[in-house]
Amino acid sequence: MSSSKHPASTSFKAPDSSSLQLNDQGKLRHFLTTDGLSKQVLTEIMDVAESFSGVAEQAVKKVPLLRGKTIANLFFENSTRTRTTFDLAAKRLSADVINLNIATSATTKGESILDTIRNLEAMQVDMFIVRHADSGAAHFIARHVAPHISVINAGDGRHAHPTQAMLDMFTIRRVKKDFKRLKVAIIGDILHSRVARSQIHALNTLGVREVRVIAPKTLLPSDTDSLGVHVYGDLKTGLDDVDVVIMLRLQRERMGAALLPSEHEYFECFGLTEERLSYAKPDVCVMHPGPINRGVEMDAAVADGPNSVILQQVTNGIATRMAVMALTLGHYATGKSS
Ligand code: CP
Repeated sequence: MSSSKHPASTSFKAPDSSSLQLNDQGKLRHFLTTDGLSKQVLTEIMDVAESFSGVAEQAVKKVPLLRGKTIANLFFENSTRTRTTFDLAAKRLSADVINLNIATSATTKGESILDTIRNLEAMQVDMFIVRHADSGAAHFIARHVAPHISVINAGDGRHAHPTQAMLDMFTIRRVKKDFKRLKVAIIGDILHSRVARSQIHALNTLGVREVRVIAPKTLLPSDTDSLGVHVYGDLKTGLDDVDVVIMLRLQRERMGAALLPSEHEYFECFGLTEERLSYAKPDVCVMHPGPINRGVEMDAAVADGPNSVILQQVTNGIATRMAVMALTLGHYATGKSS
């Protein structure tokens, strides 16, 4: 478990196996991590997301699938994209949504996270969307909720951000069609990135040809060798012949010690410029989960350039989160089992 200064901080056990996520029929009950989920489950999420992507084009951007359900957004850590796209996704499924304002909630008076959950359960909430600075927070809640309630991990510490990974997979599939011939490079602060971990598990499960990580040694996790990635220490060789580039933000808020000399020097070695992007394939697609720090991990010309799909990722986040919510609540029958 990572440390946390948050007043609602609880001692969470380290995340265990993903078996907690599936019900007896092998269907998603919670969505906590991409680690351990089958290709069939990940593909089903993307297929259902595809079916929801047209809802945004309708005059009335709603379907009645989750009418009568109540979904609580519990964001113990800041967010722009994840929180708003979960909110929009729930509303487009016709659910009622509670956005608990943690800063003005009773957690500031010392109420434990479990007591907060129990009180919201007493209000007949059907689903909790949880973001927390501590790894394992969403697993902890999932182990304690009533059997009919689903928990979705919206990012926990350095551990996992599975819906971000799935909206990224959905975006890659839409642009590149097929995973198996792709070389994908993830660049930057792998050590602190829950997004990178979730992406690496999903990319390997979906059968990409190669996953690369390009980073300074100080920003690689100690278990890099077990992740199923090829490690590069420079952009020129790491980007060679790559189909997809995923940039990561330097997570200063999670860096305890001085892991980097300066942001300027980091950009000099690992910042993505138009010139460096030319080492990759001409039709390379450039991704970033956001928030972007322009001039730190990438040039504005690349972030806004013709290869960038960064805003498509945000749009695809709504359909992907609609899919995860509908599937975990058992309101989308594809007729397939994993
Ligand atoms: N990608 C992502 O998690 O962004 P937010 O922190 O804005 O939700």
